Amino acid sequence: RRKVPKPKVLEGLDVESLAKYISSDKCKKIVLMLGAGVSTSAGIPDFRSPGTGLYANLARLNLPFPEAVFEINFFRRNPVPFYTLAKELYPGKFRPTPTHSFIKLLADHSLLHVCFTQNIDTLERRAGIPDDKIIEAHGSFAVQRCIDCKVLYDDDLMKEKVTAGEVATCEECGGYVKPDIVFFGEALPPQFIQTIPQVGEADLLIILGTSLTVHPFASLAEMAGRKCPRVLINLEGVGGIGSRPDDLLLLGKCDDIVRELCQALGWENKLEEEWEKT
Ligand code: APR
Repeated sequence: RRKVPKPKVLEGLDVESLAKYISSDKCKKIVLMLGAGVSTSAGIPDFRSPGTGLYANLARLNLPFPEAVFEINFFRRNPVPFYTLAKELYPGKFRPTPTHSFIKLLADHSLLHVCFTQNIDTLERRAGIPDDKIIEAHGSFAVQRCIDCKVLYDDDLMKEKVTAGEVATCEECGGYVKPDIVFFGEALPPQFIQTIPQVGEADLLIILGTSLTVHPFASLAEMAGRKCPRVLINLEGVGGIGSRPDDLLLLGKCDDIVRELCQALGWENKLEEEWEKT
């Protein structure tokens, strides 16, 4: 049997040791990596959970394969599946979760270095996390433009079209309009690329609610320094987290684990107050 190496930074591999480390003066810069699992309790399905994930339910849109809904060449031929999904996911109908509020608390304690998210639901902003700390690696619904001439399309008009289940077309050239969500085959925003080095500055990396299957986002986890504990808060073990001595796996529902961690930090009332505000 391989001897499990002892942690070098965390005293033990448990919530109490993590809370102690977060409260210590050794932990100043916390980097987060978020995936769809942090928004499932808000009512937004994730992508790959068997049965409940979006990709399991997109079959009704007769897609050649589930990810086609976010595939730019498929969208050019048929934007209807994406617009059907957009109507369900459109921001404004969903409330942030306790996990989002926990991240706001980290920012309030000046511990949040950067929050990388793969999610397009803008719940991080809605939870009051400072905009300059959020990197929406896969874009969001915030703005939309024509996929051909790139001219921006009006926000209110887009909301109207999506809500009515209609495909928005460019008033200049008639091309299809698409929100600035990063589709498979498209480059990630320059802001993401420029912020990658900040992972190497982290004293703590917390990965929440992601299958770590989509690159280059998933590769951020490998960029944490050797002295930076990596904590995975997820229903299942993913992405080889557990291979380093200070890798801590806290498996379960993120809201439950976040509440346990806030209890150990003495932040349980602050968390509920913060979440009440959303
Ligand atoms: N608590 C903790 N973990 C959860 C919860 C929960 N309440 N709900 C789901 N999970 C876990 C799932 O077990 C899974 O490991 O979250 C992960 C979600 O994985 P995905 O559905 O693959 O979502 P994500 O990792 O964000 O997908 C990445 O894929 O389709 C692209 O661009 C899209 O940004 C998306 C990217």
